Amino acid sequence: MEEKRNGLRVILFPLPLQGCINPMLQLANILHVRGFSITVIHTRFNAPKASSHPLFTFLQIPDGLSETEIQDGVMSLLAQINLNAESPFRDCLRKVLLESKESERVTCLIDDCGWLFTQSVSESLKLPRLVLCTFKATFFNAYPSLPLIRTKGYLPVSDSEAEDSVPEFPPLQKRDLSKVFGEFGEKLDPFLHAVVETTIRSSGLIYMSCEELEKDSLTLSNEIFKVPVFAIGPFHSYFSASSSSLFTQDETCIPWLDDQEDKSVIYVSLGSVVNITETEFLEIACGLSNSKQPFLWVVRPGSVLGAKWIEPLSEGLVSSLEEKGKIVKWAPQQEVLAHRATGGFLTHNGWNSTLESICEGVPMICLPGGWDQMLNSRFVSDIWKIGIHLEGRIEKKEIEKAVRVLMEESEGNKIRERMKVLKDEVEKSVKQGGSSFQSIETLANHILLL
Ligand code: UDX
Repeated sequence: MEEKRNGLRVILFPLPLQGCINPMLQLANILHVRGFSITVIHTRFNAPKASSHPLFTFLQIPDGLSETEIQDGVMSLLAQINLNAESPFRDCLRKVLLESKESERVTCLIDDCGWLFTQSVSESLKLPRLVLCTFKATFFNAYPSLPLIRTKGYLPVSDSEAEDSVPEFPPLQKRDLSKVFGEFGEKLDPFLHAVVETTIRSSGLIYMSCEELEKDSLTLSNEIFKVPVFAIGPFHSYFSASSSSLFTQDETCIPWLDDQEDKSVIYVSLGSVVNITETEFLEIACGLSNSKQPFLWVVRPGSVLGAKWIEPLSEGLVSSLEEKGKIVKWAPQQEVLAHRATGGFLTHNGWNSTLESICEGVPMICLPGGWDQMLNSRFVSDIWKIGIHLEGRIEKKEIEKAVRVLMEESEGNKIRERMKVLKDEVEKSVKQGGSSFQSIETLANHILLL
């Protein structure tokens, strides 16, 4: 079958965010290994490094984004780039199709569910489109019902109801809802509607997930979006995300970890998008320092509001932090999580980070920032029971306590045992004969027949 795929080209178009570029380029590798040629169309903003992927063709399109629009936050950036990129994308795709050699048919476009114009463009050019969703299927399944949930009157939430499950969206709790919707409210509705409608018109939906994590949600996804669903497993199980990193990874993390005891280090990172206030930053610093546990802390430059990097820390606090820990601007996360010294992960529960942690068997402390992270963290703490939820309390005492419980106490041991079981199940899924592994074959054959 692989021979038949030689001579077939797939076009990929990632959303220009780290958490979306990583999975798209991992998917590119997964398909390339199975015989497909790869072209990646990408925006100028957050352009992936072509030199790290010499086997793929990269085509850059202008996105018309100004510096202010880039600073304005993810939602407005996505809205703007969806307006600006349509016409350059159409021109670029048309040109690729015109220039494609007879010996090499362009078989489909695969792009992120967050692009709103690509379905129409691909239909007008008679090119089938597959959707890559970088969220957990349970979250994406809620897109059609989120507007209804928002108007149900759950918000504002009273203290007595805060921990109640949202009936239409378990295991999300009512207290999570305000951070799912953020400040966007009804402005989100047209976006959600467009994503659902274009996904229904697509030729298939790809998830970085597996039956072992969400079998029922995957079945439901197929019913909701009425297209073939392919859950091909956590992508980094096949290819590391390192080569698509937009930031320079601080490689000194690894020799520093080499000097630490087994499972002693708490790794702290809030991903590529979440920002925190200076007060929250200082609370995390004191909590880590007071825990007396070694830690490796990623503070992305600009992620502390109003600061360039870690200047809000006093000299005294810096020296007490340096006794036990290391602060870096960006880490080789997958290697850090796989290191024998890493024993816990204080995370914002982005879906990539959550999957990477599960695959390396590292239990979590959950500090979600918003959107899908609210749901991912509920699965970690309430369903799989492989982590401790901070419930948004960014306070030094709470952080110190969570680190102690996870790293030193018997509850931490139980969490670790459950994590090991889940890790093993997911590992089986991506091996030959496993459900994710088989799904890749089904996806490759589906593309072949488009
Ligand atoms: C966002 C959303 O939060 C996420 O839920 C969605 O699925 C994709 O878009 P982000 O917030 O960046 O992504 O988080 P996450 O999904 O965890 O992705 C971050 C990626 O950056 C991971 O692959 C992680 O390994 C990598 N990373 C993070 C590093 O390589 N180094 C770091 O220091 C931190």
